[in-house]
Amino acid sequence: MNVLDFQKMKDERRKISMVTCYDYSSARIVDASNVDCILVGDSLAMTMHGHATTLSATIGMMALHTAAVARGAPSKFIVGDMPFLSYRKGLKDAMDAVHQLMTAGAHAVKLEGVRGHAEIVRHIVDSGVPVMGHLGLTPQSVNQLGGMKVQARTDAAVGLLISQARDLEDAGCLALVLECVPAEAARNVTDLLKIPTIGIGAGPHVSGQVLVYQDLLGLNPGFKPKFLRTYANAFEIIQAALDAYDREVKEQKFPSEKESYLESQSSGNPARHGQGNAAFIPIVSDTLPASPPALF
Ligand code: KIV
Repeated sequence: MNVLDFQKMKDERRKISMVTCYDYSSARIVDASNVDCILVGDSLAMTMHGHATTLSATIGMMALHTAAVARGAPSKFIVGDMPFLSYRKGLKDAMDAVHQLMTAGAHAVKLEGVRGHAEIVRHIVDSGVPVMGHLGLTPQSVNQLGGMKVQARTDAAVGLLISQARDLEDAGCLALVLECVPAEAARNVTDLLKIPTIGIGAGPHVSGQVLVYQDLLGLNPGFKPKFLRTYANAFEIIQAALDAYDREVKEQKFPSEKESYLESQSSGNPARHGQGNAAFIPIVSDTLPASPPALF
């Protein structure tokens, strides 16, 4: 997928699938999947760092995670999230943040809202950087919204949502995330805009969907908002694997002889960091994947 495919997919009425991703090993899985594109969301403050809101994400964190995802998912279109206030402190700070995300490997940036920063959005777009907008529930404004609440529930609020969506389209956004708005409001915005809308808690009448990786895989078992569908019970699966490992270590069933190095094979350096050493001779076990990276 490249930036032009967003519009093409809306025009051809093909749905866009997007998932958040924050680290190298998860990115390798997303890269192997059919999901169209990745958002390195500022939700990483919560999913990866345990904070209560997204307000704790910094541009340093965003760039570090974006770079890891870019290394793991070289075939995917990656959108990097602009963190809290990073585009509200003037043009130079905003452009420095954009610079960090793009040089870390993002192909576009996303930012929340439009009131007071439409000119900054336009400047980023005019600088050759695709921008994704984000309206509805904008988690960086959680303190002003009075909580993580469904937005656009009155006619006046739907009118405001539509006018802000038009402002973002006029500013040159490639697409618009609509978070936690009634399905009819999302349908109106989608029908009125030329650019695609990507919903999360915005019903089915949008151009595509985005979900948080941990939520859709069932890695966040206490979190069950109405909009979420979980496609796996990864928390239970991983916990069961860890318990099986623990049991076999304690019962001395792991490692077996087959999983141990024999003296006759021990001329190589089995240390994990030995690849750069000229004396290192890799011993490839037939029970372990040899690549990538070939560590054994
Ligand atoms: O940060 C994030 O994960 C997001 C999505 C929920 C759209 O902004």
